[in-house]
Amino acid sequence: MSLRGDVAFNVDWARTLTDPQAFAHEQRCLGYAWTFLGFTGDVAKDGDWFRASLATRSVFVQRFGSELKGFENVCAHRFYPLRTGDRGNGPIVCNFHHWRYDKDGSAIGIPKCQENFGTVSRALGAHLTPIEIATCGTLVFGRFTAPGRREPLEDFLGPGFPILEFLSRPDRKPLALSHALEANWKLGLQISFDDYHTVAVHPTTFGKSGYLDREKLTYARFGAHSALINSNRPQVFEEMSVACADGSFRPTCYCILQILPHFVLALFRTDGDNFSCCIQQFAPVAPDRTLFRAWLYPAPVPAEGPWSARLWRRLSDPVRGRFVLHYSRRVMREDNRICEGVQTVAHQIERPPYLAVLEERIGWFEQSYRQLVAEGEVFLRDKRQNASS
Ligand code: FES
Ligand SMILES: [Fe+2]
Repeated sequence: MSLRGDVAFNVDWARTLTDPQAFAHEQRCLGYAWTFLGFTGDVAKDGDWFRASLATRSVFVQRFGSELKGFENVCAHRFYPLRTGDRGNGPIVCNFHHWRYDKDGSAIGIPKCQENFGTVSRALGAHLTPIEIATCGTLVFGRFTAPGRREPLEDFLGPGFPILEFLSRPDRKPLALSHALEANWKLGLQISFDDYHTVAVHPTTFGKSGYLDREKLTYARFGAHSALINSNRPQVFEEMSVACADGSFRPTCYCILQILPHFVLALFRTDGDNFSCCIQQFAPVAPDRTLFRAWLYPAPVPAEGPWSARLWRRLSDPVRGRFVLHYSRRVMREDNRICEGVQTVAHQIERPPYLAVLEERIGWFEQSYRQLVAEGEVFLRDKRQNASS
């Protein structure tokens, strides 16, 4: 028997979909969990930076030599955002009054500091709010700082770490797309876990051949996260993780990994033995608004077979990419329509859902989500206690 909706969900689970206060609290708590922010390729050179959103708060990540540092994107002086573009290169200098910061976020160059503040820049002790940064392959993750020993990214991702590390190294620049989803981020995530809607919502693509057979699928749960693999071979997920770690992994079937809070990596066959990857992110903006971003690229595995097949794959990759983009857009549009439909009645949801066997991972997601929020509440409480003592 799979997980029941009324076991996984609280009665008031949908409050954060409509209530700004509940949403803000949820986001404040989830910011303590490792969250995907962007790609190392955007901070390849010394001084490169990119702006991102961590649990709705504007942050930026910057390279200083071999180190990646992250800060909330708010000047310590009078709160102007330090980074007003999506990416760039250069020192941290605020455009409001030209305060300058070093790699630790300390204000080290304050114009006319002695005259205006009665001391020298360093003595004022003003600094940016740092965030913790870690990487997995080309993926950059961040989280709010908290006292005490905390789970490193590798432990948080568990057996998913080698898979993400292996599959997140595209051979060519990914095709990127983004759009505003007029629905809560959790609705976007839920539909990505839902293997029951394909016939009704994607009749010309995923649902064309009818309903999936749960007996032929593997659902793997690892830490807060989960995966679907379109194979029922025992240990298929564990084997995939080991093969990715030693570099021998070669895809043979569809799989999708959902990493909490809102990162998704799908691996799917396009034609013949060719597979593509799709990274997706559902970045929360407001209770009823989400920034959806996706990146598509050929699966980073060596082409096998005779030289002619390898050459053909190389030549056809750009065309394949356009084709994949076209179909991905269609599938995403179909999913968005459903999410936005549910959002219009979210204020009327006052009980848990019924969960089909093919929706079991939605229940897992809700359980892990509640756990992450509860952990965040502890960090938040400790932080408030430290601040008041
Ligand atoms: S607000 Fe940044 S220098 Fe004044
Ligand atoms: Fe879908």
